[in-house]
Amino acid sequence: MTPTLYLCVNRRTGAGSCSSAGAHKVMAALQAEIDARALSWEIRLSPCLGHCAVGPNIKAAPGGPMLHGCSDAQQVMATLLREWRQT
Ligand code: FES
Repeated sequence: MTPTLYLCVNRRTGAGSCSSAGAHKVMAALQAEIDARALSWEIRLSPCLGHCAVGPNIKAAPGGPMLHGCSDAQQVMATLLREWRQT
């Protein structure tokens, strides 16, 4: 399975959501981080991951962490490289 980052881009009306927290903006920055490291990771847009108040949220799969507050792509990348053991 290709290492994949499922990035929630859901928008909720009248409530906090990953879209309103900047998910689309972080997607572009995160893709640049992936490209700069020549990683074979994919980013896929995801519906709601169930943690709307603390977005943008990312689930790394297979076997990766669920990350919250992913507004800083460099910080997200550092966390994934430190915590995500891909098999
Ligand atoms: S809107 Fe992203 S987790 Fe619900």
